[in-house]
Amino acid sequence: MAIERGQFSSRLGFVLAAAGSAVGLGNLVVFPVLAAKNGGAVFLFVYFLFALLVCHPVMMAEVAMGRHTQRNPVGAFAALTSNDRRWRMAGNLAILTPFMIAVFYTIVTVWIIIYFLDAMTGGLDQLARPENFGEVLDSPSLFFYFVVLQFVVFGVLLSGVKKGIERQARILMPALFVMLVGLVVFVLTLDNAIAGIRYYLVPDFSQFDSGVVNAALNQAFFSLSLGMGIMITYGSYFSRTDNIPKSTRFVTITDTSVAFLAGLLLLPAIFSFNPATNPDELSSSSVALVFTYVPQIFLSMQDSVGYFGASVAAAVFFVLVLFAAFTSLVSILEIPISYMVDEWSISRTKAVLIQGCLVSFFAIFAAMSFGMSPFFTDFIPYGGGQRSFFDLIADTFSEVILPFVGFLVCIVVSYRWRNGGMSAELATGDPHYLGSLEERYVNFSLRTFIPVILLFVFLNSVSRKYFAFDLLSLL
Ligand code: PHE
Repeated sequence: MAIERGQFSSRLGFVLAAAGSAVGLGNLVVFPVLAAKNGGAVFLFVYFLFALLVCHPVMMAEVAMGRHTQRNPVGAFAALTSNDRRWRMAGNLAILTPFMIAVFYTIVTVWIIIYFLDAMTGGLDQLARPENFGEVLDSPSLFFYFVVLQFVVFGVLLSGVKKGIERQARILMPALFVMLVGLVVFVLTLDNAIAGIRYYLVPDFSQFDSGVVNAALNQAFFSLSLGMGIMITYGSYFSRTDNIPKSTRFVTITDTSVAFLAGLLLLPAIFSFNPATNPDELSSSSVALVFTYVPQIFLSMQDSVGYFGASVAAAVFFVLVLFAAFTSLVSILEIPISYMVDEWSISRTKAVLIQGCLVSFFAIFAAMSFGMSPFFTDFIPYGGGQRSFFDLIADTFSEVILPFVGFLVCIVVSYRWRNGGMSAELATGDPHYLGSLEERYVNFSLRTFIPVILLFVFLNSVSRKYFAFDLLSLL
């Protein structure tokens, strides 16, 4: 194990890279759609509670695990359990999950590149046609952009933790934030925006039901990049002199604020430009929605700002989403790479190349899941329908497995990491942590109700996804 591990140059480096991972399609696309479909302000409120009280302690635990062991997820689970074989398997799950997420996330990122380029070159009216998305899914040019994307992403990863991951986040994250705030201000100045704002910010508690709870918790977990091994790995690159509680707080706040702002951007846009919108009719696939519905929203702005203005707004939106997706993609591809470097003792360059080939191999099948190949399109039946290869990995790895890995994290840090090890790690770099209210809350919650909630969410996700049955409906 003589190979040197990378390290972030500073606390800010870690924070930007971790926030870059957390801020992704989840925040900019899925969150606003879920908020629109689940009662707006009520969803927002439940989401905030979960992010703060349930997800944030899990993030602290993951970063502490990584920094303490200086290892990838497999090594971290093994090191904390005296190399217990069963726990190594848990670690393996935290490697397989990000690998599989990367497979479908790569394809979604390719679609975003195409939409961005089309919007920028004056094709917004084409993008807004209902058939357009289906045509993109079938178009061979997909593979060209796929290759370009792979070169750029793996180029960043090849440059290492500091010069690659940290540097791209330092550039893209502030740019993303500025563009997002700019777009929000622009949308809020348009006529009719107030209807959407009211729906988003004034709670109507009659909308509260089990669906809201389910959606909010799943979404908060995904959005904060938990249960994917990312925070463990990034924690392993975090300096011992730095403050974990403070840094993770910043990541949670940034991620949640971006989600909030994305809602403030899209909800008024949805309601003001298509006042007849019925939230229940929004497609159930949030990702598909961004490609079919969002261009229409931007196109309908042309009445007030002209076609050129509407195109600029759409191009800014898609480049924003592209930056967010890119930093997330980099973060998720890093996990198997760090695993290979640590556990197989191979060079980073070799690990990056192996990972590049493997992900590309599977991603091509995912890209062919939309009609190009009947085999991958009708891959497997579950949950009351025939599903594609893409659906299978997206459902399984972005929803079902995450809370389970989160549950395992809680168990390891609370019951296997001896002698208050996690508290000692979190106190390293934070002189105020030991004895604080935060410490007591984190220890208590990770030992008691958080694992119970996560286990339930896992079981319910299995039931909902594969058997189309919501356990909460039994209550
Ligand atoms: N937090 C990310 C998001 O909101 C989740 C993610 C991270 C997905 C990394 C893929 C890769 O999109």
